[in-house]
Amino acid sequence: MDQLTMKKQAAQAALAYVKADTIVGVGSGSTVNCFIDALGTMKNQIKGAVAASKHSEELLRKQGIEVFSANDVSSLDIYVDGADEVNPQKMMIKGGGAALTREKIVAALAKKFICIVDSSKQVDVLGSTFALPVEVIPMARSQVARKLVALGGSPEYREGVVTDNGNVILDVYNFKIMNPVEMEKTLNNVAGVVTNGIFALRAADIIIVGTPDGSKIIE
Ligand code: 5RP
Repeated sequence: MDQLTMKKQAAQAALAYVKADTIVGVGSGSTVNCFIDALGTMKNQIKGAVAASKHSEELLRKQGIEVFSANDVSSLDIYVDGADEVNPQKMMIKGGGAALTREKIVAALAKKFICIVDSSKQVDVLGSTFALPVEVIPMARSQVARKLVALGGSPEYREGVVTDNGNVILDVYNFKIMNPVEMEKTLNNVAGVVTNGIFALRAADIIIVGTPDGSKIIE
């Protein structure tokens, strides 16, 4: 079974967690694009959505779903998003689409974080297959890169990418993240770092994995 079909399966299964008359938190990426398509079938049952990227906002509006600002809501029932890696503790690496900061903000509003992935995203140790994205204030790029090298990583500037917040991304290779909570805190304390792509302090509550044998739910 191809990866897109597995993503679609996971996205479809997430609809079961969407409650009527609520505002749904929506992340970004290709798996979330499948979720937005599926959510379109429920557009008359929900109040709307808060989106974690401008691109997701556009797609939601195309589906006829009202988009609210994160400032308009005090909490969300659920937040649905993809991930680049997921470990057995439901911690994630995110930010492949450079939307990590807004994703963390919308996730922080939600009572339940539902992560939708295909089976290629499951790892034992975060950092095994994917470079860790770090969003950085442009004027701090070089000094943050030096700090990341001192911490054992190999940062690469993601050329030509500007985040929705006007910042740049450093992708850090060679980090084996044995203690994700500590690493998330350490990186967030580097001056000039806006957010890093480790989602461990706020891990997912439910992982829905699209597999060749159907979707699997990890609670
Ligand atoms: C974007 C993200 C995405 O959720 C992550 O990159 C997964 O993307 P995809 O669903 O396309 O595999 O964190 O910043």
